[in-house]
Amino acid sequence: MTRFMTRRSFLKRATVGTLGTVATVYGGYYYAHDVEPFWLKVQNNEVRSHRIPNSFNNFKIVQFTDTHIGFQYRNKDLKKLVNAIQNQQPDLIVFTGDLTDDPSLISSDKYREIIDQLSRLEAPYGKFWIYGNHDHGGYGTTTILNVMNESGFKLLKNDTEQVEVENEYINLSGLDDILLGNPKPDQLINDENEGSFNILLCHEPDYADDVVHLPFDLQLSGHSHGGQVQIPFYGYVVTPALGKNTSKENIQ
Ligand SMILES: [Fe+2]
Repeated sequence: MTRFMTRRSFLKRATVGTLGTVATVYGGYYYAHDVEPFWLKVQNNEVRSHRIPNSFNNFKIVQFTDTHIGFQYRNKDLKKLVNAIQNQQPDLIVFTGDLTDDPSLISSDKYREIIDQLSRLEAPYGKFWIYGNHDHGGYGTTTILNVMNESGFKLLKNDTEQVEVENEYINLSGLDDILLGNPKPDQLINDENEGSFNILLCHEPDYADDVVHLPFDLQLSGHSHGGQVQIPFYGYVVTPALGKNTSKENIQ
């Protein structure tokens, strides 16, 4: 992680995820089923903008996404993930959707274990989450909401939260899932927020193209799993719907 800083304000974010990258197509069964789903990759990105207030210098947001619990992913993997997130000492934590692979296939005991793990996460400025398509699937909308509520996560469903540090603030907005929810981007921020630093949480990365008219500085997404099938030195060859844009930056 880069530690130097200029006098301009900046914000750091770290991504902790279980990305669904498959390094090779051929001979990949063992790799895809027994190795990659349990990889834990931590990626640190430093975000600078003249709209980020000075009070947010060194502020750290940790994003995790697409755990897809139930599809290979087990409780001990979640425990490892939670430990990795806490090791980052986050100021704020965001989860960008797809907690389980199919909410209807998770037992109540298993949900209790998930709540126990997610409740261990601590961040002084809060824990927030948005719906992914798999959270709405399998009649999971209410179930996943209850699990996240019990775990201390606040849902941002077409909603904006002002995050305040020493009387300065940034805006954190979250959209309902694009594929299976009812997203309402135009009600998130108004002209008053034009000069603020505005973050959008949206499960599907490609939706960035649909909200380009709104004053968002940074969008955090999941869903693409880094491209679900990748060939070394070539790149991704398979991505889910609305998961083509794996990285796009336009911060000023
Ligand atoms: Fe998804």
